[in-house]
Amino acid sequence: MYVLSFESSCDETAAAVLEMGNGRREIKSNIIASSVDIQSLYGGVVPEIASRAHIEAISKITYEALDTAGVTIKDIDLIAVTNGPGLIGALLVAVNFAKSLAFANGIPLVPVDHIRGHVAANYLTHKKLEPPFLAFVISGGHTSFFDIKSYTSFEEIASTRDDAIGECFDKVGRVMGLPYPGGKAVDELATRGNKHAVVFPSPSINKETLDFSFSGLKTAVINYLNTKNQKGEEISRDDVCASLTYTITESIRDKVARAIKESGYKKVVVAGGVSANSHIRRELKSLCDSLGAELFVPELSLCGDNAAMIGAQGYYEFLDGRRAGEDLNAYPS
Ligand code: KG4
Ligand code: ZN
Repeated sequence: MYVLSFESSCDETAAAVLEMGNGRREIKSNIIASSVDIQSLYGGVVPEIASRAHIEAISKITYEALDTAGVTIKDIDLIAVTNGPGLIGALLVAVNFAKSLAFANGIPLVPVDHIRGHVAANYLTHKKLEPPFLAFVISGGHTSFFDIKSYTSFEEIASTRDDAIGECFDKVGRVMGLPYPGGKAVDELATRGNKHAVVFPSPSINKETLDFSFSGLKTAVINYLNTKNQKGEEISRDDVCASLTYTITESIRDKVARAIKESGYKKVVVAGGVSANSHIRRELKSLCDSLGAELFVPELSLCGDNAAMIGAQGYYEFLDGRRAGEDLNAYPS
């Protein structure tokens, strides 16, 4: 069946067409329009600007998604849309657009949770991947472990107690004057730096739990940068990025090892924008190999926000009987 899907929870407006079912999990088109260039002028996402950019982009990218896939709206069997969590004004754009399109054309509509969508990106990259498995979602808004019992049954096992991992990368990147969002630039600079140059506090607050805390680490790095600046001392951005990344990857290694042990799962799925991080991908691969576990990460183009992942999860929600009513709304958290 053909699934048309939408995503507008933050600063990306996205539409995709998938062919799902009969053993197929195929991306026919995956279009993304981003307001990141405008947002970068402000060093972060301005919700009002994001909503207005979604309104401007959504019709155009829908035509583009259908055209690229070589289908028309008449061929679409299912519409899926992210209805939370995210920025409420941003979410409402795709929710309302998808609702109108679905009801005007008599096509079933399913709402999709954004986090579930990130996990489902892995079904598109790994065609044979099936639940149950352990999932580790790392993004701009989330840092959580989930027990994925089935395609539609998720249980959160642990989460960050404060900031998300991506927020930590982005805030540090902003103080260092890196382009927004900072995660990708920090990843690149870290490759060139000395990971032992600066010792930062670990985000593993308690070794006996799966909980993280990134706010202390974020503050420590920002204090380090501000102190150096005040003293007029030179800062090696490469070394700071390498040390920050090392501190984070060491902590992630410990927590994922613990999560594998506690859950008993031998399949580990990583998802969300931060799963694009080259250092995290490499360290988790080596960890999983050493523990006899199998690691699944999305291809780079499916790590960040996109609509293909929403279509994939939407398909499984549809099979499970989920349908949106005329009163479908968005939820921010
Ligand atoms: O999943 P996503 O696109 O949006 C949310 O749902 O939050 O994740 C965005 C986050 C941002 O914090 C961005 O800096 C981060 O993913 N990110 C990275 C990398 N690429 C994107 N963080 C670390 N390394 C990367 N290569
Ligand atoms: Zn996301």
